[in-house]
Amino acid sequence: MYMCGIIGYIGLKKASPILLKGLKNLEYRGYDSAGMAVLSSNGIEFRKGAGKIEEIERRLNFEELEGSIGIAHNRWATHGDVNDINAHPHFDCSKTIAIVHNGIIENYKELKESLSDHNFESETDSEVIAHLIEEELERGLSFEKAFMSAVSKLDGNYAILAIKADEEKILTARRGSPLVVGIADHGIFLSSDIPSFLEWTKKVVYLQDYDVVVVDRNGIRIHNLIEGEVSRPIDTVEWDAEQVKKGGFEHYMLKEIIEQTETIQRAIQQDEDVVKRIAEEIRRAYGTFFVGCGSSYHACLAGSYLFSKLAKTHVNVVLASEFENYEHFLTENTLVFAVSQSGETADVLEAVRTAKRKGSRVIGIVNRMGSSLTRESDQFLLMNAGPEICVLSTKTYTSQVALMTLLAYALLERHEECVEKFKELYMDIYNLTSRSMRDYLKRLAEMLADKEHIYLIGRGLQYATALEGALKIKEVSYIHAEAFAGGELKHGPLALIEKGTPVIVFVSKENEERILSNASEVKARGGFIIGISAERHEIFDYWIKVPECGDLNPIVQIIPIQILAYQLAVLRGLDPDKPRNLAKSVTVI
Ligand code: G6P
Repeated sequence: MYMCGIIGYIGLKKASPILLKGLKNLEYRGYDSAGMAVLSSNGIEFRKGAGKIEEIERRLNFEELEGSIGIAHNRWATHGDVNDINAHPHFDCSKTIAIVHNGIIENYKELKESLSDHNFESETDSEVIAHLIEEELERGLSFEKAFMSAVSKLDGNYAILAIKADEEKILTARRGSPLVVGIADHGIFLSSDIPSFLEWTKKVVYLQDYDVVVVDRNGIRIHNLIEGEVSRPIDTVEWDAEQVKKGGFEHYMLKEIIEQTETIQRAIQQDEDVVKRIAEEIRRAYGTFFVGCGSSYHACLAGSYLFSKLAKTHVNVVLASEFENYEHFLTENTLVFAVSQSGETADVLEAVRTAKRKGSRVIGIVNRMGSSLTRESDQFLLMNAGPEICVLSTKTYTSQVALMTLLAYALLERHEECVEKFKELYMDIYNLTSRSMRDYLKRLAEMLADKEHIYLIGRGLQYATALEGALKIKEVSYIHAEAFAGGELKHGPLALIEKGTPVIVFVSKENEERILSNASEVKARGGFIIGISAERHEIFDYWIKVPECGDLNPIVQIIPIQILAYQLAVLRGLDPDKPRNLAKSVTVI
């Protein structure tokens, strides 16, 4: 599970009401299922089920669980359907060990095979952890040693909490996924995020990768799997409650933009065999369509350029709301990719139903497991971006483009190469979302905040980026922003250019000469040129430096515009998370 929320408590108070409150505050991390396990005199007692926490809390009566040591989980499904069994906690065969997990165990299939005599109940990757601990216990190890040994066998990302009947302690480990300790007067918390326990304490210890922690009634002991015994400082957080929910950021939009360092990497962590099979289907299909709305449509457009230029494969890109007009071309041999962050957009679902009526095969590219699109498509790929709260798509857009890129490379049978390219992007994305970059873009936003119009131009892949950039700017700052293909300027838009009209120009190595020539047409009419490129060109009045990433340019080039749009909204006194007249999930046609 990538973006799940976990929380544990050990202390003097009854654990279940504290954990329940904590889960509610962690809801932004996942909300399709929840569960809790508490240590009682009868061993481990638990409740878990599918549904939003407010819906299931009455059904499951979490607060009936007695005991002052417990662990809990909010799920955002990635491996396995949304159902009661796949909800956490998960157990060993004898239900004496309970675990909750946030992350993805990449080698869970191999591990599961090596535990063939164990009885697995769920389809999750996480359950393997409980059985691994059980296996180590059977070899005579103590709970702590068994836990450590199990953790050292895991590949991937994790934040894990584990309890065992008759052991008054919580064991925890982290690698990649967030985990923080809260130290209150009456007990100790372990959680994915601070808001879950802020009501009780502001004293926190941030755990590091490979830390394994034993928390009992005497306090905490930290053993780092690489460094050995370590101590970590106690910090005090100074956030107010509202800020805390946003991880210390003022708005979800900014938080989600910054999360892209991780979410882009998550998106491409797909089962290679599945991706290969989809590539094969594309090769065999007689006509492939990409359909989506809003940002998802722009991701489709970027995908169509990638398919054409890289894989020499033609796809039809259609707005979901216009799809019915193409109905006549749909046959049993047509392949339709329905792209939607929410998986609930009515126009997209309508397109899916149209395609299915005609017997076409539908593959969803979707962020929300358990959404209508995951149910109605024949197959789907998950973006794994975690919940996106801001109405504007930011991290889900780059995840969609990342998946399109992966598919284009798969058509060339160059899956591994693509994964490597994305890995190399990690630091670039980190730098593009850094504070210094944000400050630099804020200065640009100050220059643009009073403008009535902003234009964006690009060619090829960069035209898709220009369209997405214009959408970001207009929907959040309410400044009129419009994108044009560079070559189209002379066919009309040039008439709009006056002295000082801002024009954002997306430059890539491949089409540098032609797009700079378009920029000079604008400059000659007094336009103010904002260049997005790896190199500074004389024609630029303002330069936004981004690395040249070839096929991956649509990912790196959109990030500065997401930040610029955010800064423009804030400077104009608007709430970037909730633009007027817009909704996150548009479930009407
Ligand atoms: C709404 C959102 C957009 C989003 C579009 C498509 O209009 O405000 O940000 O791009 O829906 O949403 P989907 O969930 O289908 O990707």
